[in-house]
Amino acid sequence: MKYDVRQLMLLDNSQIAEDIFDMRLKLDAPDLSVCCGQFAHVYVPGKTLRRPISVCDASDGVLRLVYQIKGEGTAIMAKMQPGQTVDVLLPLGHGFDIDPNKRYCLICGGIGVPPMLYTAKQCAEPLVITGFRSESLVILQDDLKAAGAETLLCTDDGTAGQKGFVTDLLRERIDEIDEVCACGPTPMLRAVADVCRQAGKPCQISLEERMGCGVGACLVCAVKVRENGEELMKHVCKDGPVFNAEEVVF
Ligand SMILES: Cc1cc2nc3c(=O)[nH]c(=O)nc-3n(C[C@H](O)[C@H](O)[C@H](O)COP(=O)(O)OP(=O)(O)OC[C@H]3O[C@@H](n4cnc5c(N)ncnc54)[C@H](O)[C@@H]3O)c2cc1C
Ligand code: FES
Repeated sequence: MKYDVRQLMLLDNSQIAEDIFDMRLKLDAPDLSVCCGQFAHVYVPGKTLRRPISVCDASDGVLRLVYQIKGEGTAIMAKMQPGQTVDVLLPLGHGFDIDPNKRYCLICGGIGVPPMLYTAKQCAEPLVITGFRSESLVILQDDLKAAGAETLLCTDDGTAGQKGFVTDLLRERIDEIDEVCACGPTPMLRAVADVCRQAGKPCQISLEERMGCGVGACLVCAVKVRENGEELMKHVCKDGPVFNAEEVVF
């Protein structure tokens, strides 16, 4: 894993939904190759540990990080102002493996949606199914359409799109796609993995674990996986965050 500490100029940090912000950073590093599903580890002034945030986009010299205020660190991030410098470790982790000849369904829930924008840009006309609790949390629909995706939207309470869960829509469309990539809360990932197993479709999932170092040195992010019939621990930060769904012991 090759990464660097980078000092990036903050271009914009606007609120786009309830407690959700869209941070845009100037990426003046033409040599940098970022894979979809990788993440940035953001230094927050006054905090010892960095905060992991998925790459939402890394096109046209701009790095986008879309994040939700959860605690003190992300609240500090939301107050950062254009013109200031943000210290990030980038690019980290193993992202999605995309085969340009396959039709993908990208399925994502809540704050699991941001990494799917950059992923959609690497796929040929993907189907993107997004799910949110409610209309006030819906994000990135126009960006996904502009990236060439067919988008389907659902909310738990029916205030936007179809009322229901992403897996209801996945079941209806799974026959027409070759592979699924998913990011979101663990119960959603488990349900998506079940639907894919029953349909015999390969599935990659992006896991979220609390992180310390972000680079494979501290073991905070260990997750249990099964390989060749044996259970072993892997690092979400270095071996993931994206894993083959069949490997993960939920
Ligand atoms: C690979 C990866 C990608 C992520 N991508 C995004 C994203 O694109 N957008 C987004 O809004 N959030 C994302 N998260 C979750 C985000 O990292 C946490 O919401 C954030 O670190 C919370 O920090 P805080 O200081 O506001 O909260 P606090 O709860 O005060 O954090 C305390 C400590 O716990 C850690 N922590 C808390 N929650 C999480 C969590 N869910 N995952 C990892 N560490 C956590 C913090 O980093 C910090 O060290 C991602 C997490 C991972 C692991
Ligand atoms: S966060 Fe330290 S090993 Fe993964």
